[in-house]
Amino acid sequence: MTVRIAPSVLSADLGRLTEQIERAVAGGAEWLHVDVMDGHFVPNLTFGAPLVRALRRVTNLPLDVHLMVERPERYLGEFADAGASVFTFHPEATVHVQRHLATARQLGMLAGLALNPSTPVSLLEEVVHDVDLVLVMSVNPGYGGQSYIPQSTDKIRRSRALLDRHESPAVLEVDGGITAATIAEAWGAGADTFVAGTAIFGSPDPAQAIRDLKRHCAVKV
Ligand code: DX5
Ligand code: ZN
Repeated sequence: MTVRIAPSVLSADLGRLTEQIERAVAGGAEWLHVDVMDGHFVPNLTFGAPLVRALRRVTNLPLDVHLMVERPERYLGEFADAGASVFTFHPEATVHVQRHLATARQLGMLAGLALNPSTPVSLLEEVVHDVDLVLVMSVNPGYGGQSYIPQSTDKIRRSRALLDRHESPAVLEVDGGITAATIAEAWGAGADTFVAGTAIFGSPDPAQAIRDLKRHCAVKV
């Protein structure tokens, strides 16, 4: 299993976004994570499809779009058209989860399902063959810069076991409070893809911060 880092543009300096992306690429970032918030599902308001469209023009990195919005299915077509590579949403935000996962795939995106800290892993049993990515939230979504919830490690382990039991090749991603101090634990529990905002863009040297995160995954703990 190789480690994949997805810097979150939420914490980037938006006035210098292309430069920040270049730094992330220089550090070996594999994906870019885009946090879409609607002020309803979570309190904050952030970005929409226009940012994804703009990013698509300036980078070849896959765009990992995380929708923290009510009824995310309303935006499936818009984000696919804008160039999103991954479309991840929260099951609590909609009714027909399986249908929307299938539509994301039909539109050429990876279909992702996000699990909030209080959302049971067992929910995955019902849609395991419909998901290309499971996003374990290691904070309650809505803000960057929060602390990793320690119980997330066991949740990652149980998600990995469930995916393995079903021989699912889905990506297992973790989001929230990932730092040089927490990444090894999440990696050791079976995650392969790590969102990090503050740890990367809050650092004076984002490229080095990415290399440091990867270095902490070199050995299984
Ligand atoms: C939280 C977002 C995260 C956020 C992570 O609601 O989904 O993607 O950008 O930020 P850090 O790495 O600062 O916890
Ligand atoms: Zn996110």
